Amino acid sequence: MKFIGTNELREAYLKFFESKDHLRLESFPLVPKNDKSLLLINAGMAPLKPYFTGLQEPPRKRITTCQKCIRTGDIENVGKTSRHGTFFEMLGNFSFGDYFKEEIIPWSWEFITETLQIPKDKLYVTIYLEDDEAFDIWCKKTDVDPNRIFRLGKEDNFWEIGVGPCGPCTEIHFDRGEGVITNVDDFVKASDEDRVVEFWNLVFTQFDKDEEGNYNRLANPNIDTGMGLERIATIMQGVDNIFEIDTVKNILNKVAELSNVKYGENPSKDVSLRIITDHVKSVTMLISDGVQPSNEGRGYVLRRLLRRAARHGRLLGIKGLFLTEIVESVVANYGDAYPALKENKEYIEKIVSLEEERFNETIDSGMVILNDYIEEMKASNEDVLKGEKAFKLYDTYGFPIELTEEILEEKGLKVDHEAFKKEMEEQRQRARSARGESSYMGSDESPINKIDASINTEFVGYTNVEVNSNIVILANDNDFVSELSKGEKGYIVTEKTPFYAEMGGQVGDKGTIKTSTGEAYVYDTKKNVGGKTIHYVKVNEGTIKVNDEATLKIDLIRRSYIAKNHTATHMLHEALKQVVGKHVNQAGSYVDDERLRFDFAHFKALTEEEIQKLEDLVNVKIMEVFNVDTDLMTLDEAKESGAMALFDDKYGDKVRVVSVGEFSKELCGGTHVNNAGEIGLFKIISEAGVAAGIRRIEAVTGINAIKYLEDKQRLLKEACTALKCGEKDVVKKIVAQGAEIKEKEKEITELKSKLASGVEDEILTSVREIKGVKVASYGVEGIDGNALRDLGDKVRNKLSSGVVILFSNVGGKVNLIAMSTKDVLDKGVHCGKIIKEVASIVGGGGGGRPDMAQAGGKNPENIKTAVEKAYEVVDSLVK
Ligand code: ALA
Repeated sequence: MKFIGTNELREAYLKFFESKDHLRLESFPLVPKNDKSLLLINAGMAPLKPYFTGLQEPPRKRITTCQKCIRTGDIENVGKTSRHGTFFEMLGNFSFGDYFKEEIIPWSWEFITETLQIPKDKLYVTIYLEDDEAFDIWCKKTDVDPNRIFRLGKEDNFWEIGVGPCGPCTEIHFDRGEGVITNVDDFVKASDEDRVVEFWNLVFTQFDKDEEGNYNRLANPNIDTGMGLERIATIMQGVDNIFEIDTVKNILNKVAELSNVKYGENPSKDVSLRIITDHVKSVTMLISDGVQPSNEGRGYVLRRLLRRAARHGRLLGIKGLFLTEIVESVVANYGDAYPALKENKEYIEKIVSLEEERFNETIDSGMVILNDYIEEMKASNEDVLKGEKAFKLYDTYGFPIELTEEILEEKGLKVDHEAFKKEMEEQRQRARSARGESSYMGSDESPINKIDASINTEFVGYTNVEVNSNIVILANDNDFVSELSKGEKGYIVTEKTPFYAEMGGQVGDKGTIKTSTGEAYVYDTKKNVGGKTIHYVKVNEGTIKVNDEATLKIDLIRRSYIAKNHTATHMLHEALKQVVGKHVNQAGSYVDDERLRFDFAHFKALTEEEIQKLEDLVNVKIMEVFNVDTDLMTLDEAKESGAMALFDDKYGDKVRVVSVGEFSKELCGGTHVNNAGEIGLFKIISEAGVAAGIRRIEAVTGINAIKYLEDKQRLLKEACTALKCGEKDVVKKIVAQGAEIKEKEKEITELKSKLASGVEDEILTSVREIKGVKVASYGVEGIDGNALRDLGDKVRNKLSSGVVILFSNVGGKVNLIAMSTKDVLDKGVHCGKIIKEVASIVGGGGGGRPDMAQAGGKNPENIKTAVEKAYEVVDSLVK
């Protein structure tokens, strides 16, 4: 067979279907749009679901794509088998109510036997058990040998994932073995043994399976085919492992080179090589499509893949950061097919190395913990590490179990594998129930997502703020309804609308919808999954009825505030490119009537100076009162004109380009001011990091910017009043006061210590020697608790031998303490006894040990008497 490179195969397929009148679309991003049911695109048809179910009109009835896909369900098998990978490309051609079996069967045969020239005696076909029609077409419209067609059951030849578009299918298989397979049992066996590989699935999409398990017949039968690019490449390149096809092998070789490992020599090292190859491919594609590492959803998928790759690097003995070098190889091999990879290369590498660095740090702190565990095990003479501990290392520190094992092994220790696995399984269960991933091919089933594609909801709000139109649909959360009454919330769909539906970071409009019988407040406007504009309403007055004519009117002032912020966002984007650098790409934005938020790729905080420059540049351009113009043009013309565009699926006839004079030019569907001067003023209110490599600027415009500055002005005035000085002296005065406070604090500390030693000296003046024992008895003011004990301690130390009894008047109460050195105890000194007697004089009680006792009392006026009494008590005690 003729060797065909993977990139050429992709091109050959798309060209072939273009010659059959298909519209070639670029791969959709891996992040599904308007589809909450799916984490990541996992099949060629996934981004096209609304076309299959009729919710949206496709740009053409025949489409062909090569779609980036990610499936992580079998992640544990990646690298261990010849055909599992998390990232793959699916070649597909689709018919939306256009051609059907009659066409696709002979076309597929033509492509594989003529374009690819795969020998017919290497091919087998399977069909769904009951599908006689497919059998007849195969026999009549192609020259496949009917003995090479086998019928299989629902398991094999009926394609569905969860709920959503599905149907019977026919599959085409390649035989790597020798001899002819003559019956279905032998065929199934050969399949199980990987002698026969399925490489093209032609699905006759006739049903839309719902949550209850019903197969609802679709209005038009469709075609959905999927051919795994990597798989067909193995066939065309005569290899039997997806890691050995040209493009993938290039990446794998890079990994082998970096780790100094030869592929094919050590099976477990080969697994690591393949895992790194596959995972870095997924990571590169995910980041390029806008996913960032995090602890949930897609971000978690990305983090997991990246860390798994990094850890296998360690297993191979690679030291330090290495993943970006693999990213480079991915971009080199896939950059022509996916040009966005080249554009985003620097950004992808930065995110990868930040995350890898972070992972290495956690690994290092994990090492400290593991060493503690090892010490504990040695101390208690154990040689097996508990499963829960190994799991903690894995879960909290991202510590690979293989690494834990390796380190323990060096010390003659082991891991309790069973217990570890049990912990893993429990965590997996937790993750699964948290994700609730069951119906992942389905779509959001609420009524507003079931609106027929034929219904038009034309947006006329670029030029009109008020329009009359018919209400074509009314709904509440559960169903379509014929009317909504006062107090009810629901949804209104009209043929025309001036309301902008939330899109491209701009919030939806608010306003009113009025009919002859009622009025509703529109509190939000959004698009449904089919792209129809939906007004979210609450009825204020009377009743709104379906089919009635309504007057739709947006809140114009709010819209004008939004427009100022939106146009300012474009200007900020351009200013960032000019002031900070060309690499500053938009990572997200949000615009409402109060402020604007702009996220962009950049790796350090902006300096005060940069922020000032940005603000000045935007304000200078506002003052140049540029007209803001919108033009419709083709995507190519837009690119040609230098318009900035985001990675998003843009196709179709025309795109809308918004320009602010000569200053900024950007693809955008949003609503803007007519002239930049309307923005009035632009003020940045914050700049901060929101994720690794992503910064966020928040800003205000127009009257909100003025109000912001007024608030600051007011604050300054208040500060002046409080400080009793003029504006220009505020800072000077605060600095001076700070210095003064510091000086005073120093003074206070000095005085305090002077004071304390003064009291000690005073107490020492009270010392009397009684039968050879030094006794200090004294009354102080305002010292209680610990301070009194400290004071007693100090005096006792100074006495070096003797007993000290202190009375303190603290706000009308008495604290007493007696402390003695050890040597006088033999002579009969007993602090407990002393305290007992003297406490009774100040109206209290208490006692304690021979060398230390304390008590409280309530008659400070008797302290003097008690002080004297203390000497007498000591006298009576000492022998
Ligand atoms: N949607 C079909 C598949 O994923 C073609 O195999």
